Amino acid sequence: MQDLGGKPVIVRTYEAAKATGLFDAVYVVTDSDVIFKEIEWHGGQAIMSQKEHDCGTDRIAEAVAEMDVDIVVNVQGDEPFTSKEGLAQVLSVFDAPDADRIDLASLMTEIQDWREISDPNAVKVVVDKENYALYFSRSPIPYPRDKNTAVQYFKHKGIYAFRKQALLDFYNLPMTILEATEKIECIRFLEYGKRIKMAISNTQGIEIDTPEDLVRANKVLKEEKRLPINNKYRNFPMVPKVVYGKGCFEQLASILGPQRKEKAPFIYLVDDVFQNDQELIQRIPLRFNDKLIFISSFEEPKTEQVDVLVKSIKTEFSYRPSGIIGIGGGSILDLAKAVAIMLTNKGQASEYQGWDLVKNKAVYHVGIPTISGTGAEVSRTTVLTGPEKKLGINSDFTPFDQVVLDPELTTGVPKDQWFFTGMDCFIHCVESLNGTFLNEFSKSYGEKAYDLCKEIFLNPELDDETAREKLMMASWHGGMSIAYSQVGVAHAMSYGLSYVLGVKHGIGNCIVFDHLIDYYPFDVALFKEMKQAHGIELPQGICKDLTESQMDTMVKIALSLVPLWENALGPDWELKINADKLKALYAKI
Ligand SMILES: [Fe+2]
Repeated sequence: MQDLGGKPVIVRTYEAAKATGLFDAVYVVTDSDVIFKEIEWHGGQAIMSQKEHDCGTDRIAEAVAEMDVDIVVNVQGDEPFTSKEGLAQVLSVFDAPDADRIDLASLMTEIQDWREISDPNAVKVVVDKENYALYFSRSPIPYPRDKNTAVQYFKHKGIYAFRKQALLDFYNLPMTILEATEKIECIRFLEYGKRIKMAISNTQGIEIDTPEDLVRANKVLKEEKRLPINNKYRNFPMVPKVVYGKGCFEQLASILGPQRKEKAPFIYLVDDVFQNDQELIQRIPLRFNDKLIFISSFEEPKTEQVDVLVKSIKTEFSYRPSGIIGIGGGSILDLAKAVAIMLTNKGQASEYQGWDLVKNKAVYHVGIPTISGTGAEVSRTTVLTGPEKKLGINSDFTPFDQVVLDPELTTGVPKDQWFFTGMDCFIHCVESLNGTFLNEFSKSYGEKAYDLCKEIFLNPELDDETAREKLMMASWHGGMSIAYSQVGVAHAMSYGLSYVLGVKHGIGNCIVFDHLIDYYPFDVALFKEMKQAHGIELPQGICKDLTESQMDTMVKIALSLVPLWENALGPDWELKINADKLKALYAKI
């Protein structure tokens, strides 16, 4: 159960065995409740031993006694780096001409370091000319009496492939004196005259027998991890599947069907404005033990809220959910992404706020926006307010696996909210198009979304239905535009407002943007025009009663968003903005 790069060693071993694709089925056989639950939670198959056993081989024999199997491979639970190559080699001996003579097969690897040769934790094996095992020992065998003799030492690797009968025989035969002395299971086979064929593996791998091994293994995993975030060219994932069209929500059941894992439920996180909307609720395709959770989006999502949701799901279900489906605005979509991530990653959500801190792939997650503008349906981040910062969980595992874009779902949004959320999209475009990170990729999306926004908010001829369809696509394009660039001053300051005063993202952006004439002169003028066209009033003077320390916190939060400032003002942004200037700006709003 020790942690190895974010997952218990046993889970890593299970996944490695499964990933080889060599087996019809993979099970963890255990006498531990904790391990059993952990494997099921990760979507694996586990078998609980009925009886007490002296060793793993006995436990496996019990598990397969009633199964219709030909060859059983035993991978020890502490072999997380089990490779396809090694397992394929063990299995290949059963295809050789002498296969009939083989009761079981195992793996060995040459070792040369005398420290390892003499280490009792490393089991050595000697073989005959055809690689049948002669004996296993914790002592160095053979003993090199003449130190100049060229002798090969082989270390036994804890992987066995048994014919089912050999396994059952082993189970029924009493333990023998040599096995008991060396504490090496496979000696029992030799003592009863069974034939063990050894295959040679060249991959060293790391078995985890001691705490030092674990440290070494964690280091190996870290080195394998991808390069740091600020690569010159971003390589980011996009939403792989999206369905668009009026009424496409009806297709949800057939979209989810293939993703359902046996007993594992789908969990729906739905904005509680729909709690009394029977028409929508009835259309959600709940099956079996699927669960609907209504969530208030009155406040911006918090890391703590994510942790509570994840805990309640883990307590209620012994299977990891088949998927998380968010139905709502940006807050609900962000929550859905964060919950999907935290179901497969240890610890608390606040530990993952930042860039590329998520270790494990999230649970399958689906985003269904019911209000357009935030771009949360397409973004690589999920913005959360944590105990120390307001920051997204920005990772390759954050984007949705599936998005359902049904413009019909965005009917009935209150006018103010429609405007503020739509302006989030408009501001994404402005900040991306005026930023120093801009390239043609971002520009192509940003320009399209910008034009759509102008049409939606400044063309009185546009009918409601077309406007909704256009805003849905503007939101998508605005989100794509900032995927390769960044947002800017309005977002940085809006995050500060939100952290200290709890102002929601959309309206916070508008309140700030209204005062950014020095930064985005043309677009702020356009914004004021849009505001007027729709009779929108913004609250005034919201920062005037702030205490000194609240103001300091707000400034600190805003200035901590380095990439946003760098995009807005260039690499020397620190020469252009500082705490005093920012305070003066906040004081105005
Ligand atoms: Fe935004």
